[in-house]
Amino acid sequence: MENVVGIDLGTSNSVVAIVEDGVPTVIPNKGGYKTTPSMVAISESGKRLVGHIAKRQAVTNSVNTVYAAKRLIGRKWESPAIRAVQQSCPYSIVEGPHGDVRIVLREQVYSIPEIGAFILQELKMVAEQYLGGAVDKAVITVPAYFNDNQRQATKDAGRIAGLDVIRIINEPTAAALAYGFGKDFERRVAVYDLGGGTFDVSILDIGNGVFEVVSTAGDTFLGGEDFDIRVMNWLIQVFQERTGVDVRDDRMSLQRLRDAAEKARCELSTVRETLIDLPFLYTTASGETHHLQENLSRDQLEDLTRDLVDRTISICERTLTEAKVERGEIDDVILVGGMTRMPLVQRSVAEFFNLEPCKGVHPDEVVGLGASIQASALIDDSQDMLLLDVTPHSLGIMVHGGSFHRLITQNTTVPTSAAHIFTTVRENQTSVKILVLQGESDDATKNELLGEFILEGLRKAPKGQVEVKVTFSISADGIVSVAAQDLETGREQSITVTATSGLTEEELQRLVEQSQGYMVEVRASEEFERERQKIEGLVSEVRELFPQVEGIMSGTSFGRDAIAKAEAVLDRAETEMKGNDLRALSDVGESLERTLNMFRGVVTKTNLS
Ligand SMILES: Nc1ncnc2c1ncn2[C@@H]1O[C@H](COP(=O)(O)OP(=O)(O)OP(=O)(O)O)[C@@H](O)[C@H]1O
Ligand SMILES: [Mg+2]
Repeated sequence: MENVVGIDLGTSNSVVAIVEDGVPTVIPNKGGYKTTPSMVAISESGKRLVGHIAKRQAVTNSVNTVYAAKRLIGRKWESPAIRAVQQSCPYSIVEGPHGDVRIVLREQVYSIPEIGAFILQELKMVAEQYLGGAVDKAVITVPAYFNDNQRQATKDAGRIAGLDVIRIINEPTAAALAYGFGKDFERRVAVYDLGGGTFDVSILDIGNGVFEVVSTAGDTFLGGEDFDIRVMNWLIQVFQERTGVDVRDDRMSLQRLRDAAEKARCELSTVRETLIDLPFLYTTASGETHHLQENLSRDQLEDLTRDLVDRTISICERTLTEAKVERGEIDDVILVGGMTRMPLVQRSVAEFFNLEPCKGVHPDEVVGLGASIQASALIDDSQDMLLLDVTPHSLGIMVHGGSFHRLITQNTTVPTSAAHIFTTVRENQTSVKILVLQGESDDATKNELLGEFILEGLRKAPKGQVEVKVTFSISADGIVSVAAQDLETGREQSITVTATSGLTEEELQRLVEQSQGYMVEVRASEEFERERQKIEGLVSEVRELFPQVEGIMSGTSFGRDAIAKAEAVLDRAETEMKGNDLRALSDVGESLERTLNMFRGVVTKTNLS
């Protein structure tokens, strides 16, 4: 059966998993780690670095190292989230051609789906190496509260990476799948997922292979990153009070502070106090060096971040109200995401639901595992599992006076669709513009604009006579599509979509081609490495026999020639192993094999005689 993987493309860490012989398994990367940091960097020599290797060089190359790109995906340049990121991130972000966000690394501009694609490509390669075959299909998870633009952009990232994204599923739903997989029970559960950048909470009913989401809510800009920023700002302030120096404009110091803040935060999940020690944090223009040494206690950390945890709890409250579920009706609370290791988070959740959270799931791996379960169910008909998810946001259009007219309300089970009939308001009107939005505000301008849909080529007729039925659909991926039909003629009406923040089809096509070129390069270099190792082995075998053969053959003129030839082949091999020409390397390999055969023959004959 073909290989279809599940991928959790996280803000901080990503995971790739597959169901093997019925068992969902996380695939370890080259370093043996089950999670890969969602980081991308471009090195000084222009090399692309992804994962642990990018993370390791982040302090010395902070300007060209991207982390938490998921906080930017599918967002508009004008959004408040982007303003916040701009203030704290060391890499440079600029406005893209469609009002979107782009990242500049070593003077090259990248779209956010491209950055996502680099991470996905790495995971694809990890899976291919493990499985020993091509991986072209994947189920990718997204935060349940992601809107249509964010989902589309994630799908685009998959496409650029050369993956056919057969389904997008919500992270808490994936976690619930992994939790309930193969278990025979009926339960109502709450999944609380606090990761590096996002927060989601979903209420689900699980039973007899059916996983039904009752309601979901979240905040796509609330996670470990925000906790880190709180600790960082505190450190910056303390440092300024002690030394009079403001480190905010020094990117390397900021990156060191960020790393130290996160490390301290994680330590405080198990100890009550920790020392943050950053020698030579800042050197002034006059050459004066300043060090930072500061104790941070768990209580202090909790004071700095309590309101963030409180925000997650009010979102839990909201989703229960929307689901019309009482707290006491929840049988189990599942904690997902690295941030749920924080004692304050665990305490607050346990207190709110009046339940000890379930311990049976791995907070870092469960989402990836769930994605792999969904992947395997989608390609294997024999699995009778049913997943019913909901749309996290209401979908609607802008009507007269700028108000929002809801067509599909939040928490409706997907796939779903709703129709609306539009009529012309002017004589001979040939086109109609529809603004499609997602959100909960009655004021359309406060909701997320998904696109301007323009119905074109309407029949010329007196006003009010042309009636067009427009159908808005949300797929199982949570992705919106729009179709229109002239009611009188039954003809499909063409629709042009503008004002989305995603990539255009042409841009996507170009990026897909570019990345395929990159894969060829990667593969070619892997092949070169294999060949190089083979040559290395041959060279050492020839060298081992060399003194013996030289001793036997140097007495004859024919032998001297052969020895000189063998020396030349060895020299060529050494040169080609340092180069990058696969063909030349293979050629020298053939010569080496001939030399080795000859050497072996000489030695065997001499031993026999
Ligand atoms: N022991 C710990 N104590 C506190 N926080 C931790 C601990 N271990 C990891 N974290 C935090 O968890 C976060 C990463 O969690 P996770 O890997 O689940 O996120 P993600 O899946 O990448 O992000 P998201 O789901 O938001 O896209 C980081 O902010 C990290 O600092
Ligand atoms: Mg996550």
